Amino acid sequence: MQTSSPKNIALFLAFALTALVLIFLVFIQKIYANQILWLESIALLLVVFFGSYFLVYKSVKRYIYDRVKLIYKSLLRQKGTSEFVETNLDKVGDDVEILATQRQKEIDDLKLMESFRREFLGNVSHELKTPIFNIQGYIHTLLDGALHDETVNEQYLSRTSKSVDRMINIVEDLEMISKIESDRLDLEFTDWDIVSMTQDVLDQVEMKAKKRSVSLKFEKEYPSIKVNGDRDKIMQVMINLIVNSIKYGRAGGSTEVRFYEMGENILIEVSDDGIGISEDNLPRLFERFYRVDKSRSREQGGTGLGLAIVKHIIEAHKQSINVRSTEGVGTTFSFTLRKV
Ligand SMILES: Nc1ncnc2c1ncn2[C@@H]1O[C@H](COP(=O)(O)OP(=O)(O)OP(=O)(O)O)[C@@H](O)[C@H]1O
Ligand SMILES: [Mg+2]
Repeated sequence: MQTSSPKNIALFLAFALTALVLIFLVFIQKIYANQILWLESIALLLVVFFGSYFLVYKSVKRYIYDRVKLIYKSLLRQKGTSEFVETNLDKVGDDVEILATQRQKEIDDLKLMESFRREFLGNVSHELKTPIFNIQGYIHTLLDGALHDETVNEQYLSRTSKSVDRMINIVEDLEMISKIESDRLDLEFTDWDIVSMTQDVLDQVEMKAKKRSVSLKFEKEYPSIKVNGDRDKIMQVMINLIVNSIKYGRAGGSTEVRFYEMGENILIEVSDDGIGISEDNLPRLFERFYRVDKSRSREQGGTGLGLAIVKHIIEAHKQSINVRSTEGVGTTFSFTLRKV
């Protein structure tokens, strides 16, 4: 039974008072009159019962209302909460518990975001520090005399230029991520042919693949497949996936792009027969700055931002991207696009 509602408290006190008055009446009448005045006694008891019930109910309700209103006001931190005020204390307890759980969840989320932010800032400065220190080192060496040393001056300058390129890459990726996060990634949806776009990307990365003796496989007989999306952004997705497959593929291995019909969508797969990714690394792969093998990735000029951007772009198209991989066997990334 609920005991903490004003009605129950009033009922309990009214019964208690009536019982006390009843005992008192019986006692008095027995001693002084030796007879019981039934009618008068019942009338008095009824007045006591209803009178005390009404008074207690009203004052308890007022008392709880005033205090609970304050609690609700400070918990909800908003004006005009009077409509929400609940005078049943069990229900108030439940409400407060729900609110406390909500607040705790908000605090936990904020703490998590704060730790992401801290990790992100740490990563950004760490990634920028490497090329900056390289540039500083080369410039100092050049100024200290290497500038006039014909055997190294050009080499140092070209290394400086590489480090500058790397910084530009990082900053451009960061700019892209910030655009995505503030919803300023203005996608330009048009209809275009994914087969010819893939061919363009493969032509672009041909030299990179040759350097690592990776053969690029692509069925030339694919008929044209028209899709709807932002061509430049999807091209960026394709470049990152294919370049990754070359960078993390086996030297002398192969990369293959395939298309599969999936109802109103087309599934695009980029597979390699490279080092693969272990199962515990797979869930974190699309996080910013996440790299499985940091030294190998850095040596390849990677920052770990590529897949984070890829995922954002695909999700901005309301499509999805997946990865499956077996260590030592290879990796397949697949994403979908809307066919026209
Ligand atoms: N095809 C693949 N095979 C094996 N590992 C991969 C493959 N693609 C990505 N990875 C792993 O995932 C990590 C993240 O990839 P991502 O594209 O985000 O970054 P990156 O290639 O290192 O740098 P960026 O793309 O920013 O230049 C890589 O560092 C690599 O460890
Ligand atoms: Mg990459």
